[in-house]
Amino acid sequence: EKGLKDYYDGYFPIGVAVAPRSLEGQSKELILEQFNSMTPENVMKMGEIHPEQNRYYWEAADKIAEFAREHDMKMRGHALVWHQQTGDWIFKAEDGGQVSKEELLQRMKTHIDSVVSRYKGTIYAWDVVNEAISDNPEEFLRNSPWYEIAGEDFLVKAFEYAHEADPEAKLFYNDYNAVIPEKRERIYKLLKLLKDKGAPIDGVGIQAHWSIFDPSEKDLREAIDKYSSLGLDVQITELDVSLYPWEKERRELREGESDEFTPEMEQRQIESYDMFFKVFRDYKDVLTGVTFWNVSDNYSWLDHYPVEGRKNYPLLFDENYEPKKAYWKVVEFD
Ligand code: XIL
Repeated sequence: EKGLKDYYDGYFPIGVAVAPRSLEGQSKELILEQFNSMTPENVMKMGEIHPEQNRYYWEAADKIAEFAREHDMKMRGHALVWHQQTGDWIFKAEDGGQVSKEELLQRMKTHIDSVVSRYKGTIYAWDVVNEAISDNPEEFLRNSPWYEIAGEDFLVKAFEYAHEADPEAKLFYNDYNAVIPEKRERIYKLLKLLKDKGAPIDGVGIQAHWSIFDPSEKDLREAIDKYSSLGLDVQITELDVSLYPWEKERRELREGESDEFTPEMEQRQIESYDMFFKVFRDYKDVLTGVTFWNVSDNYSWLDHYPVEGRKNYPLLFDENYEPKKAYWKVVEFD
């Protein structure tokens, strides 16, 4: 039976974010039928794979890498340097205070070296730096411990260390809200700065945690144009289409609100997916990958985030791993 990867053969690989548990049962079957690329959803993040200075936990990540090799799938690595899901140890000095800049960069190098080297030959692309731009439009870089301790230097260094560890790997900067014009400009500025400083960067990842309300076709096209004008590969790295607009400050379902998947929502989601993939196909020469964030509506990280206890239905396959109507829109083109 044909899957997304077959319909999009000649366009770009179609990836999916996975956990070790996704590689079993019905989920496994669906992955093998539909996708030809994988990203570990969590298990390669520093907090998981390198939870203490002298301790690595490879088992879960190895399992995914082994699956990719066994089934001849591409694999993206995610994510080397991030402000979240990073063990606190890396910022802490022996005396409990903050580590020096030199020590932080040294620890970062050790981390990048060991993780990138281990999956050399299996992982073809790495998200080297994730989400380094501030959420405040007035600011440029996010005020994370990385930035606080090491300033801008950690950015260029991260790419250099990754390149030393695996000169063949494609190295990406990855971020969310990357097609909103205001943030797009700040991401562009960072990419330009990295290039001007000679950082070995190959591409930019547009996370694409989108919704049935946004982004517009115009913003999407303009973002891809703008990023690719730098000569970078562009990838869609974490696609899902939420039924709800993103509201960061919300944490609970409001009184009287339901979390159903209504026919109106379904229709909007079909149209959104249809438009997004039309644009992706138009950009097949610059887009080198489209990855979904999770396998099916059976489980999505949006089921509990940002609103506690609210179910979401953001993917192309339903809770029973069956293709939704949106799926047929995405694959029926000529
Ligand atoms: C998410 C995972 O899907 C969740 O399981 C986890 O609890 C939090 O992180 N941007 C990223 C991803 O780069 O790593 C995040 O993944 C989603 C937002």
